[in-house]
Amino acid sequence: MGTSESRPYVKIKLEATRKVVMDDKKKEGRYSRIYKQLNELVLKSNNQSARMATIVAVLHHKMEYFFWTGFYLLDEGKMTVNIYQGPVACQILEKDKGVCWAAFNKQEPVIVEDVHAFPGHIACDSRSNSEIVIPFKNKTGEIIGVLDVDSSEKAAFSEVDARWLEKILDLAHV
Ligand code: SME
Repeated sequence: MGTSESRPYVKIKLEATRKVVMDDKKKEGRYSRIYKQLNELVLKSNNQSARMATIVAVLHHKMEYFFWTGFYLLDEGKMTVNIYQGPVACQILEKDKGVCWAAFNKQEPVIVEDVHAFPGHIACDSRSNSEIVIPFKNKTGEIIGVLDVDSSEKAAFSEVDARWLEKILDLAHV
């Protein structure tokens, strides 16, 4: 694992001038508070689903630019929707297509500033405009799925989101 600076994030760049939904400094402060809160909340159970649900609920309601927040987990080879908050999403994602599969296959976070420019993007809701996907590991380090976050704003996510979301996902392990 490298540092956030050295991580080769795959990023689909947006050419147009970006409207920043929340600057990185504000994100740092917000994530730091959320992490502290989640760190206390997850201790109340030793159940992975309970922890995943709590993580998704807190993130979705505390980060105002999160439009859809949830997990896709591999189930018998199928990338299948799991705990989430937001509009109804696709239940199964076509294999090796879209952003979730890209992050799963590359085993690293993927940030897409404009989903409409991402070849093969799977649009579960046309209001989504940018996306970040973080591989989700079990406690032995095997990638079992992804955390997917969509925003209705373009270019909503940065390396700050990637770094904190990776750290927050580690709180799901029991
Ligand atoms: N856009 C994702 C599919 C899941 S939804 O965004 C909830 C993808 O391309 O994999």
